[in-house]
Amino acid sequence: MTVPSLTLSDSTTIPQFGLGVWQVPAQDAERVVGEALEIGYRHVDTAQMYGNEAGVGAALKSSGLARDDFYVTTKLNNGLHRLDDAKRSLRESLDRLGLDNVDLFLIHWPLPTRYDGDFVSTWQALVELQDEGLTTSIGVSNFQPAHLDRIVAETGVVPVVNQVEVHPYFGNEETRAATRRHGALVEGWSPLGQGGGELTDPVITAIASELGKSPAQVVLRWHLDRGDIVFPKSTHRERLQENFEVFDFALTSEQVAAISALDKGEAGRTGAHPDTMDWIPGA
Ligand code: A2P
Repeated sequence: MTVPSLTLSDSTTIPQFGLGVWQVPAQDAERVVGEALEIGYRHVDTAQMYGNEAGVGAALKSSGLARDDFYVTTKLNNGLHRLDDAKRSLRESLDRLGLDNVDLFLIHWPLPTRYDGDFVSTWQALVELQDEGLTTSIGVSNFQPAHLDRIVAETGVVPVVNQVEVHPYFGNEETRAATRRHGALVEGWSPLGQGGGELTDPVITAIASELGKSPAQVVLRWHLDRGDIVFPKSTHRERLQENFEVFDFALTSEQVAAISALDKGEAGRTGAHPDTMDWIPGA
């Protein structure tokens, strides 16, 4: 199975598919990431808030893979948006990951109701971290169109990706379009909808039986065919394997359109709304 690479606006490349480790408990992370690497995954998406960077790092180390052979993303914790905190936190992430640099560092949430609404300085901190070589690329997560417009207008620096909630019941189309308009790529989180019903939806199960694929494989293929980057999470080896087997088929444009038509708009959102999300761990 060959995972395609996509070129980012800073001319680096990113594997279009990987492993997400949100909700992978710290004590399981080394095993899960290790199994994924054995299967052939070469892209891991973690975050300071997930509490499992050390397990990710241990698996990468014991895999024996060369640094250029895998891609790692981590994200800034919500409580650490101020310049000095942001800078210190990436160094601490690198210690836990056992790496000299990550491939991609993201602002996890814009938190527009915190820090006097100033997520622009936080973006500037990421620019400095990139200049220092601690991360190759910089991007954002959960940025609404207005948040993207603002950081680009005020700094002139475009994030390479915007990682946002996307799955068939929540197409998040306005944000996807705004992200692409800025020349950034969309990374879709909760690509399988976190058990929200997509995997038993009759439109998806019908396409799955037509193609002899599982509903999860069809949903992942839908993301890939729309050009988004995805990293489904599973703690089960059989599912890690199943999710990886999505590069030997493609959907027709009609099948892609039929799945996109399942979009329920805001009613399909499962996570927090970025305009009001203000949670800071331990605060
Ligand atoms: P588990 O970790 O127990 O395998 P998302 O990536 O949208 O957040 O979805 C992750 C959820 O989907 C997890 O609960 C995961 O459970 C489950 N999951 C992952 N892969 C599959 C699959 N191939 N079939 C069914 N459920 C899956």
